Amino acid sequence: MDFKIDPLHGTDAFGAIVTGLTPAAINDADTRKQLYDLWIDKGVIVFKGLADLDTQISLSEIYGKPEIHPLLVGIDRPREHFVIAEIEYVEEDGDLYEIDGELRGGYLPWHFDLAYMDRINHGGILRGAVLPNRGGETGFIDGIAAYDALPDDLKQRIEGRRIIYRYLADATQAKFGEIPDKCISLSSKISLALEHPAVKNPVTHPMVYSQKGTGRKVLNISPWHAVSIEGMEGEEGDELLRQVIDLMIRPELAYYHEWQEDDMVLWDNWRMLHCACGVPPGEQRKMRRTTIAGDYALGRQLAFAED
Ligand SMILES: [Fe+2]
Repeated sequence: MDFKIDPLHGTDAFGAIVTGLTPAAINDADTRKQLYDLWIDKGVIVFKGLADLDTQISLSEIYGKPEIHPLLVGIDRPREHFVIAEIEYVEEDGDLYEIDGELRGGYLPWHFDLAYMDRINHGGILRGAVLPNRGGETGFIDGIAAYDALPDDLKQRIEGRRIIYRYLADATQAKFGEIPDKCISLSSKISLALEHPAVKNPVTHPMVYSQKGTGRKVLNISPWHAVSIEGMEGEEGDELLRQVIDLMIRPELAYYHEWQEDDMVLWDNWRMLHCACGVPPGEQRKMRRTTIAGDYALGRQLAFAED
């Protein structure tokens, strides 16, 4: 093995940093197995010194099949590659929020990807194409560590419960998590996503499930798109959900990645929450993300569409 694996931030709770991996080594069978097992074990891997699109795609293929983002199906808009989702903030056409008196472009609240779909991708690899001079960190929280940190009475109260999710774009309309004070603008891409047929029906996912192969329990809540607890769609359920989410997203459980040139970051989307902290207006941030296919087979689509 020519590459090196280190803990992410001085703890082995979750995350790893891989340095010295070459594009050629990605083809080696032992290396692929080791990097796959590391992902399942640690949840997040920061790869240092890997730069281009082809490497991003071949690295993603270790973990599953890169596929088109479901909300980009049928969208006629040029992009770098069909399996790449472009997550960008530019001042002329971007999501801009006010949070605690500060303007943040490209802010995305805590979430896992595709919570509003019944089939959730297993992972993603993010790469910076244009990095800002200031801000632009990506935060991660581990659902396994968050579950372990919950008090026993809350663990009991959420066992067997499911959450209803539906797609929304404007983060000020979220019911749970860190909600911005004001939405200044939304990008033109958002209106296409809101109209997409794939997000017409609400879905549900379990609040807790056990990770395949390890049996570790995962707190499986994506605050941004959460609507309510199924069967507890009133104040009592919302209060329970709010209590658990507030414990889940507390700062001491989070790692914030400060992007450098030639970083790629992989996460297990069936376990990790992530967020984009945003950039000051005037900065640009252009990220490229793969969507790694999979199905944990626990999501359900609700049969009705709410209007
Ligand atoms: Fe995301």
